[in-house]
Amino acid sequence: MADVRHAFVTGFPIKHSRSPLIHNYWLQYYGLQGSYKAIENSPEQFPYFIKTLGEKGLRGGNVTLPHKEAAFALCVKYDEAAKAIGAVNTLWLDDKNILNGSNTDAYGFAANLDAQIAGWDQAKTALVLGAGGASRAILYALLMRGFEKIIIVNRTEQRAKALADHFGSRITAAGWNQAQNLIRVADIIINTTSLGMSGHGDMQAFPLDFSEAKTGTIATDIVYIPLETPFLRQAREAGLRCSDGLGMLLHQAVPGFEHWFGIRPDVTEELRNIILDDILKA
Ligand code: ATR
Repeated sequence: MADVRHAFVTGFPIKHSRSPLIHNYWLQYYGLQGSYKAIENSPEQFPYFIKTLGEKGLRGGNVTLPHKEAAFALCVKYDEAAKAIGAVNTLWLDDKNILNGSNTDAYGFAANLDAQIAGWDQAKTALVLGAGGASRAILYALLMRGFEKIIIVNRTEQRAKALADHFGSRITAAGWNQAQNLIRVADIIINTTSLGMSGHGDMQAFPLDFSEAKTGTIATDIVYIPLETPFLRQAREAGLRCSDGLGMLLHQAVPGFEHWFGIRPDVTEELRNIILDDILKA
């Protein structure tokens, strides 16, 4: 009998997740039997759900908000990225039925820029806006790609300082009042704040001016709804090289699919358009 595998994405809430669209596209594209479904779990339900994956016939899956830290605590084995970031977004049961965890957000961030802006990691100075959970994955990716100087700017400077302490000497922290000046020295600017994210209040203008950025500076946002955030629109209008957040979503899904279904899938233009259509319909 064919080896039919089943995977999931869980979060709370989960109904807006695009992950089922991505993984079911690949299942069909590669002609594989199997399934990938969204399953909602409250924080109270989450540990039991994870501990009984094998009994439910689930090989593994994705974990999203608010469960990424809880998933990290439940995994028996995890990779370097998960350890450094302190959160798991991808997990799977191995041959011995041991729960493994990974964080593929850093991979997704870097792989998307590899695909969109060749040589992006030859830059030296990165400016990271925001110091929440998403910022941790970006910092890890930048460190892995050899950035010499990474400056985190955050409204609550203390959170930026805590991240700088955690990730080491190549990282410095600054308050939001220094952001405008730091734009002049940055080779790449990454927005990890929720400013401009759909559903987080109406924002017409991002509170920074990019016109003094160096020639060739890159701007990227991790938010993909809207696809062009106010941050990206202003950066594009100021002549920066821009990459939107949808690519990171698509690329972070690649290692999980490979763990569960045994094929390393391609991020195709067709897949991007399918997800884009779905976002525009919403
Ligand atoms: P996540 O884990 O998804 O990154 P988070 O922990 O809520 O989410 O972090 C959101 C980020 O957006 C934080 O850096 C937050 O700044 P604070 O640490 O000061 O809260 C930032 N953010 C949210 N609203 C903001 C605003 N109006 N101005 C500046 N930064 C804002």
